[in-house]
Amino acid sequence: MKMKYTAPLRGELAVPGDKSISHRSIMFGALSQGRTEVSHFLTGADCLATIACFRRMGIEIEQNGSDVTVFGKGLYGLSAPSDILDAGNSGTTVRLMSGILSGQRFSSVITGDESICRRPMKRVMLPLTEMGASIVSMKDNGCAPLGISPSQLHGIHYQSPVASAQVKSCILLAGLYADGETSVTEPVVSRNHSELMLRYFGADLSSTGTTATISPEPSLTGQKVNVPGDISSAAYFIAAALLIPGSEILLKNVGINPTRDGMLRVCRAMGADITLLNEDHSGAEPCADLLVRSSSLHGTVIEGEIIPTLIDELPVLAVLAAFADGTTVIRDAAELKVKESDRIKVMTDNLSRIGCDVEATDDGMIIRGGKPLHGAVIDSCKDHRVAMSFAVAALACSGETEIRDSDCVTISYPGFYDDLRMLCH
Ligand code: S3P
Repeated sequence: MKMKYTAPLRGELAVPGDKSISHRSIMFGALSQGRTEVSHFLTGADCLATIACFRRMGIEIEQNGSDVTVFGKGLYGLSAPSDILDAGNSGTTVRLMSGILSGQRFSSVITGDESICRRPMKRVMLPLTEMGASIVSMKDNGCAPLGISPSQLHGIHYQSPVASAQVKSCILLAGLYADGETSVTEPVVSRNHSELMLRYFGADLSSTGTTATISPEPSLTGQKVNVPGDISSAAYFIAAALLIPGSEILLKNVGINPTRDGMLRVCRAMGADITLLNEDHSGAEPCADLLVRSSSLHGTVIEGEIIPTLIDELPVLAVLAAFADGTTVIRDAAELKVKESDRIKVMTDNLSRIGCDVEATDDGMIIRGGKPLHGAVIDSCKDHRVAMSFAVAALACSGETEIRDSDCVTISYPGFYDDLRMLCH
């Protein structure tokens, strides 16, 4: 895909549904009694992989574009899968499902693509094993494929070394099948969609500070879920509108859960003009329309407790920092190394290619922004967030930018380039 400097962004856009919430609506719907009706479901490849896994375990799921109906069969209603479960590129699918599968009365194997098979799974295997699960890395390297056999789970109080919603959710889901209470304490609170949605489906779950606690064997009941727009997808249009002079866009019905809204806070600290309109709730999830106007930005420091609330937005924030005046420091973000790609390496390599003065550190990067930047050939490393971040950078760079493997955006945003073109006129 080749892209060039653009006209200002103008108009309105409803970004696709939130990826994290879409995954959970299928999983929790499958484990509930009765129908779960999901609207504005994200039809990205990751969430479709979750649907395929549950269909393989006998759950009927009707999908009509972004309207999905899950015919739940209860906590013990899944049947032994006819084949290996394939999570594709989706870490959320593998990690959350490993919690669910550990509680089943049948054996299963779950794996995914090349990138998934390099990502760390010990972070879920360890606590699950502590709960009594029988889960092994079949290549004995701490990664997928994971082989899971039936065993009785016990409640534990787990002190997680990482602030990861995937780890937390995995343990809470296994806790549905345990013979006592299960709790997870994180170093810093990560996204809380599982807690909000499990409670909405009838689970006995409480959260205090950095600890979430669940009681076993609730009767979960199917619900209606209207998925808010994904703030992680909105992030690319926010960044593009901020960077291109004369832009003004309205992003409709975007999720603004405080465990996810760090990007908005950082952009404002950099000088961004972003206004929240029509604040509302979709189920337990807060949402709003975002009015974004081009702004002149300056560097900032991104560190500490805010990191989990913007972890997926750090690539595009790095692009913003490259165009902002002054230095931006990102630290406490070593988790970037174990995402769909090593995002510290891949972002700093590609930012260097467009002429940015950037340095990789152990847990982040230092970006000295404000120089004019030029188009280049970008290697997305098949990481959707890298491809979308450089599509934004391309709009503000001189000359032409070519993004390799640009079609990987279908993982979380199949219509991304069309929507970007539509706003750029
Ligand atoms: C997610 C949690 C985050 C995030 C990922 C989605 C989730 O991962 O990066 O894109 O849906 O729970 P970690 O839990 O590894 O931080």
